[in-house]
Amino acid sequence: MKTKVIRIQKSMPSKKTGKQIAEAARIIIAGGIVAFPTETVYGLGANALDAEAIRKIFRAKGRPFDDPLIVHIASKHQLYGLAARVTAEAKILMKKFWPGPLTLVLRKTKKVPKITTAGLDTVAIRMPSHPIALGLICATGVPIAAPSANTFGRPSPTSARDVLEDLDCKIDAVIDAGRTRIGVESTVLDLSGKTPVLLRPGNITLEQLEKTIGKIKVHPLVRVRTHGTKPTKKTAVRSPGLAYRHYAPRAEVILVEGPAKWAEAKIKKIKAGLAGKKVVVLKTSGLSKEKLASRLFGEFRVADRKGADIIIVQGVDEQGIGLAVMNRVRKAAARIVKS
Ligand code: TXA
Ligand code: MG
Repeated sequence: MKTKVIRIQKSMPSKKTGKQIAEAARIIIAGGIVAFPTETVYGLGANALDAEAIRKIFRAKGRPFDDPLIVHIASKHQLYGLAARVTAEAKILMKKFWPGPLTLVLRKTKKVPKITTAGLDTVAIRMPSHPIALGLICATGVPIAAPSANTFGRPSPTSARDVLEDLDCKIDAVIDAGRTRIGVESTVLDLSGKTPVLLRPGNITLEQLEKTIGKIKVHPLVRVRTHGTKPTKKTAVRSPGLAYRHYAPRAEVILVEGPAKWAEAKIKKIKAGLAGKKVVVLKTSGLSKEKLASRLFGEFRVADRKGADIIIVQGVDEQGIGLAVMNRVRKAAARIVKS
């Protein structure tokens, strides 16, 4: 299959972008799969209610069928067809953070096909804030299921180039609208149980969420490196995707965690011991955590293109978006060195 690249420049008059979006929408309505930008990362979209189209997403990504997808909507009324119970907390959070990078897990209706939610009785829903994502959902008239548009296990794509690197010839089209702003995927919050559980940290921070609805439980897998460890039944049921190795470049990632001075010295030492290997160092002192988040996956991919053997990442504190950054780096890491 040839992958069509649909370019949309920021400077384009809206009449022209309307045409481009309509073209992508036609493909989705016909049961095809199209990658598109969101404010977080590029997603690979299909009609969330079309089981056959959803199957194509799993196949193109090489994603295991037990890892559920996020359903993207453009208006609140779409939510009520998909979620069986919209809790009071959900309503408060939607009002405050939608459209934006917050995904809510709620009990699902029968309308959502099993394949979309990997057989779970819950569905993850988010309303993105990127105008092209919203425009595309509106133009199709259906909710769009979209995982990150990468090969399963690879770093999420923050540009159309990243998408094509993984999925060229495997998807119908990609809308190229430049780099994404946030760079790490949305915050995922499970509201289907008694207490809210943070399943994946993101740009909407734990602090912001707790300020809005009170105490939130952080899922135990958020702060640990998971690949190579066996998920327990309980953790696996709540969100199967959490237990997989994710976001990983081909190069081996070493995470160095500790006070800045110590970490910098440690990184020098590790590097000196790796003579003959191609080493890329991602230093984080002097870089805002937002900047780091927006660049992280891109830096991983650049290192791979350069043929790096090892990427050494200096850890950051877990305040604010730091929790999301550390979560992604830990999941990608082959080794963690602590002070
Ligand atoms: O920012 C984002 O969320 C991006 C853009 C494209 O919107 N999408 C994204 O999707 O990151 P994906 O498929 O790469 O990650 C979805 C995460 C997975 O960890 C999955 O396990 C979890 O959401 N998830 C989806 N449905 C769930 C459910 N019903 N219950 C628990 N976790 C769920
Ligand atoms: Mg993903």
